[in-house]
Amino acid sequence: MIRNSLFFSMTAFLSASSLATAQEAPPPEVMTQGQQVYMQVCFACHQPTGLGLPNMFPPLAASDWASAPKPDRLIRMVLHGVTGPIKVNGQAFTTPAPLMPPQGTALNDQQISSVLTYVRNSFGNKAGVVTPDQVKAVREAEKARTAMWTEAELEKIPVN
Ligand code: HEC
Repeated sequence: MIRNSLFFSMTAFLSASSLATAQEAPPPEVMTQGQQVYMQVCFACHQPTGLGLPNMFPPLAASDWASAPKPDRLIRMVLHGVTGPIKVNGQAFTTPAPLMPPQGTALNDQQISSVLTYVRNSFGNKAGVVTPDQVKAVREAEKARTAMWTEAELEKIPVN
């Protein structure tokens, strides 16, 4: 009996963690919602193409941030914003306004998980889905935070 329930919880744990990093195509309704949020919030800077604007807004297409194995840095960026110099794929990105505004109040966990799933699976990107529970957990872990993130701080958050 004990052995059975241990087996059950291990299986549940394994399937939950593989869900979070699954490389299979995300559900269409999540992509649709994610695109809606993207076209309301992110597109003005990162552009509908995800290519950004040179010397202005960095690209999400083929970006190491967007396609990181785990979404822990991405979720933090959207919740609290980002400021200061940033590298994309190891190269400094030049922008006169190194500032991405926080969206943690405007967007709920579901909207943030959908938009990040959309970004991770659009513009040629192919990375794991982000779940509302993952966003909820990060929101809870960082609830004392008010400042925007810097690259140096984000780099301390593991993505593997
Ligand atoms: C007002 C413009 C603006 C909006 C809106 C915006 N961003 Fe950004 N974003 C930026 C800027 C500028 C940077 C670089 C910040 C820095 O240098 O500190 C950035 C950086 C990023 C990065 C890391 C760098 C890269 O190119 O991969 C990601 C990922 C990202 N944004 C995703 C998003 C998502 C998702 C949304 C919508 C929820 C969003 N951004 C909304 C301006 C914006």
